[in-house]
Amino acid sequence: MKVLVVGGGGREHAICWKLRQSPRVTELICAPGNGGIAKIAVCVPIKATDVKAIADFAEKEKIDLTVVAPDDPLVMGLVDELESRGLRAFGPRANAAIIEGSKVFSKELMKKYGIPTAGYEVFTEADKAVEYLRRGSFPAVIKAEGLALGKGVIIARDFAEAETAVREMMEGGKFGDAGKRVVIEDFLTGPEISVLAFTDGKTLRPMVSAQDHKRALDNDQGLNTGGMGAFSPSRIYDEKMADECMNNIFLPTMRAMNAEGRTFKGVLYFGLMSTKDGVKVIEYNCRFGDPETQAVLPRLKGDLLEIFEAIIDERLDEVDIGWKDEACVCVVAASGGYPEKYETGKEITGIEAAESLDNITVFHAGTKLDGDKLVTSGGRVLGVTALAPDLDSAIKRAYEGIEKVRFDKMHYRRDIGIKKNQ
Ligand code: AMP
Ligand code: GLY
Repeated sequence: MKVLVVGGGGREHAICWKLRQSPRVTELICAPGNGGIAKIAVCVPIKATDVKAIADFAEKEKIDLTVVAPDDPLVMGLVDELESRGLRAFGPRANAAIIEGSKVFSKELMKKYGIPTAGYEVFTEADKAVEYLRRGSFPAVIKAEGLALGKGVIIARDFAEAETAVREMMEGGKFGDAGKRVVIEDFLTGPEISVLAFTDGKTLRPMVSAQDHKRALDNDQGLNTGGMGAFSPSRIYDEKMADECMNNIFLPTMRAMNAEGRTFKGVLYFGLMSTKDGVKVIEYNCRFGDPETQAVLPRLKGDLLEIFEAIIDERLDEVDIGWKDEACVCVVAASGGYPEKYETGKEITGIEAAESLDNITVFHAGTKLDGDKLVTSGGRVLGVTALAPDLDSAIKRAYEGIEKVRFDKMHYRRDIGIKKNQ
């Protein structure tokens, strides 16, 4: 089968790496891919958000299956476009991807169907939002309505910070149309867990749990990033919590989407917080998480292509999934300065040395080939991923691996997976 993966980050590298293990994948293509994906797939320079160009390419090349990994093309309707041309595609249609594309939609869905989440108000006028905040308590959580590269959530410590955030989003156009409406939420506390789930709208099968580390610096200091590392399983997600989530959150969400005429087929990502009043949904994503995928897919025993096809054909209940008991840790190496200004074009060395260690895989994110040299091309450059019998040995192993990798101004967190209370 000829398979096209859309996207070019660490998540897409992990998806391509796993698909390469499927005997039925004979040709693997990735758009646009990166320097690491180029070693296992043919990379074509088409932007993931260029819906028409991707669909034209899939049609012309007679692609048997297109896997759409990032949020933007899903929300923009790439799956719908491919289907309208009679092509097979993995991922939710636009009318279901809205669960991530609009925070107002997802909050209203949860309220309507009684799915536990933080209390909230929606605002379309900055002055009204500011007035509400003046009377409220802090910290306050302010979320832009639409997609904002994971940066549309502000936890404001006081009124001044909150007012600035609201005005920047609603009047300053900080996130474009995505910030025209805002959701102001109650501030919740507790450890966070990410659970990704396969679903075809009839069956929902959660993957093993994970946790990511969003802040740039150790001990959750510094700015929010796209994710500085992830580990699986979560240290707190036990069978009891899994049952609670299945009954109160996962299945009710799948059914709610069906009831709304927006059947969700693909990977549904539940960003969860374990609060003193039970587990609550912090956010939904309509896709595999990044970097959680890099820590979850190495644990998957089943054939990813078979799972994708079963979801498209609505027979997910029949397929073998299976998870390894081992733990997996992914430590991200970022460019110095990220998530603010950083330089690119730095030569990367040591990847082969890292991968020569047992059970280490390096997933590339912001890398590209410059002649035969591998150089940095983004903020998050790569993720060194280790599989080991338990979390503590996977952490040790991942750090042994990352120590072999070098590039100028490389930065990584030293505490991925370590927080014992989470
Ligand atoms: P999101 O992009 O929606 O995942 O939000 C980014 C981060 O903000 C989350 O991982 C949480 O740490 C935090 N956050 C979001 N919503 C809330 C909330 N209602 N209470 C406390 N923290 C939150
Ligand atoms: N790791 C969070 C996300 O993928 O949005």
